Amino acid sequence: MIVLGVETSCDETAAAISSDSKILSSIVSSQLIHSDFGGVVPELASREHELLLNSIVEKAIQKAGISKTDIEGIAVTRGPGLAGTLLAGVCFSKGFAHGLKKPIIGINHLEAHIFANFLADPNLQFPFVCLLVSGGHTQLWLVEALGGYTLLGTSRDDAAGEAFDKGARILGLGYPGGPEIEELSRGGNQKAVHFPRAFIKDKNIEFSFSGLKTALLYYMDSYDKNGNITKADIAASYQQAIVDILVSKLKQAIKQTGVKTCVVAGGVAANKSLRKAMKNSFTDMRVLYPDLALCTDNAAMVAYLGELYLNKGVSSAMDFDIDPNLKLA
Ligand code: KG4
Ligand code: ZN
Repeated sequence: MIVLGVETSCDETAAAISSDSKILSSIVSSQLIHSDFGGVVPELASREHELLLNSIVEKAIQKAGISKTDIEGIAVTRGPGLAGTLLAGVCFSKGFAHGLKKPIIGINHLEAHIFANFLADPNLQFPFVCLLVSGGHTQLWLVEALGGYTLLGTSRDDAAGEAFDKGARILGLGYPGGPEIEELSRGGNQKAVHFPRAFIKDKNIEFSFSGLKTALLYYMDSYDKNGNITKADIAASYQQAIVDILVSKLKQAIKQTGVKTCVVAGGVAANKSLRKAMKNSFTDMRVLYPDLALCTDNAAMVAYLGELYLNKGVSSAMDFDIDPNLKLA
C-alpha cells in the first residue's frame, strides 16, 4: 500500500511516502523563524505550515517517483502537539484525502516515534521497553503489540528534551537546545561539575528534571569565567546528569518487565552520549534506536505507522478531530 504521511505537530513541516513498509521519500523542513525567540511561537509555526505544506508534499511525491493518484491512503498526526499546527496538517490532509477519495487515519505522534524503531530494524520483535524522550515527554513504555502499551513511568515535571532546551537557554545557546548542548559538550569534562540526579537511587520509575535545571541556573549565577571550569565542562556535566537519570530508570524498567530488548525514541534519542551510554550499560540486551534523522520529528514514522493501521482496515472518519493532549494509553 502507498501511503502519504504528514507531520505538523510542532515546528517541523514534514511529508513522506511509504510503500509496503519501506520509506520512498521523507522531506522535513525545520522552521527557522523561531530561532530569534528561543522557542517555538505557535502562531508563527501554524502559518508557516500552511505556507509550506503543499510544496513539501509535492516534493515527497516527486522524490518517491510516484504520482498523486498512486497514493492509496493518508496518515496525519492528530496529537499530541500544538493545536494550531496540528490543525494545519489535519485540514490539509483531509482536503487531500477527500480530493483523492482515499482513506485517512489520524496518528498519535508518540506512537509514531516508538514505531520509527521498526524503520531501523523491520524484524524488531515484541515485547520491548521503549524510552520515549522528546521535547514534551519522558516516558517508559512496555510495548507488547501494535496498540498494546503499558506506561511504566513518566516525568513529574519537565521532559528530558525540555531540560536540554532550558539548559541551553541558561548557557546562552540557541534552540533547540539538545544539539547545541551536545556540540558544546564535545571535549568538555563530564565530571567537572556535580549536578543532581533526582530519584536515581529510588526503586520507583519516575523522572524529574526541574531541580537539575535550577541547579544549572544557580551554578551559572556564581560561575567564574576566568576559573578552571569551561562552559564545555558545564555542558558536558549537565548532559551527563540527564543521561545518567535516563539510563538508571531504563535499567529499572528492564528489571521490572524482564524483557530483553529496549529501544529509544523521540528527539533526545539523537543524543550520541545517550546512545553510547545505552550500548555500554546494556551489553546483554538488544538495544535499538532510529537513524538520527528519524529520531526528531518526521513524517516517515507517521506514514509507516499509518500504513500498518490502514492495512488492517483501520481508518478515521472524515470529521475526526485534533487532540493537543492525546495520550498513548
Ligand atoms: O521528538 P522531537 O523532535 O519533538 C517533540 O516531539 O517534542 O524532540 C525535540 C526535542 C527537543 O527538546 C530537542 O532539544 C531534543 O529533542 N533533541 C536533542 C537532540 N536533538 C534533539 N536532545 C539531545 N541531544 C540531541 N542531539
Ligand atoms: Zn516528536
